[in-house]
Amino acid sequence: MSATGGNTALTPPDIAARKGLQPLVCLTAYTTPIAELIDDHCDVALVGDSVGMVLHGLPSTLGVTLEMMILHGKAVRRGLERALMVVDMPFGSYEESPEQAFRNAARVMTETGCAAVKLEGGESIAQTIQFLTARGVPVMGHVGLTPQAVNAFGGYPVQGRGEDAERILRDAVSVAEAGAFAVVLEKIPEAFARRTTKEVSIPTIGIGASAACDGQILVVDDMLGLFGTFRPKFVKRYAELGKAAEAAIATFANEVRERRFPASEHVFGDEPRNVSGGEAA
Ligand code: KIV
Repeated sequence: MSATGGNTALTPPDIAARKGLQPLVCLTAYTTPIAELIDDHCDVALVGDSVGMVLHGLPSTLGVTLEMMILHGKAVRRGLERALMVVDMPFGSYEESPEQAFRNAARVMTETGCAAVKLEGGESIAQTIQFLTARGVPVMGHVGLTPQAVNAFGGYPVQGRGEDAERILRDAVSVAEAGAFAVVLEKIPEAFARRTTKEVSIPTIGIGASAACDGQILVVDDMLGLFGTFRPKFVKRYAELGKAAEAAIATFANEVRERRFPASEHVFGDEPRNVSGGEAA
């Protein structure tokens, strides 16, 4: 039984129906163990292309491939029962044409078992979103700061300040009108997030976009304190697992060097295996 009261998998229409209601809880997941940990607590598990930076040490998300997303998607699928699984379409896998996007999204869905994909971009990608949703591919949009456009932005600046706000609002509205069931708003000012959430018909999922959104998403390794390369202002650290892991590794190293590990309880004796098939003491 899940901590949130349900025991069946959530669907894209379930998420869309949460507009203006209880906030949606979303985290990234890239592996089976993390998927198992978040499943009882989250509405959406996103296999984000942030996996490239977080687990593979890439300098941006641009080097992430479809094969990487499928491999991590398969791992996450094995750990989920309740949360809606969404997989990011990586850079270069959907921008060329609606047909290219459909071909690759269909591969992601059939090979991973995910129920939806996420695409970065607004007005420029709306036609593709319409093409996908009309063919059975539920889409989550992503506007504001879109990390795959890091070179065009010249980094990761806050979006939607001043005149830029009208463009991003148009992006969010086009994504919703094209049939997306939810849209991520990344790194925009609070007042603008509030206005966008009011004006778009689908749930807004904020990351660096304030509590005015219909839900929140964070990179799980960021909030657990496992990824320290970037520390954006919008990340709250709910744990410091990286520090705890390093302390454990240092203790192991000392114990090995001082021959205190393995101790007698970790060592096998000469007795034969016991009949029940368990390990001999
Ligand atoms: O790749 C990612 O992790 C994302 C987020 C919205 C966190 O796109």
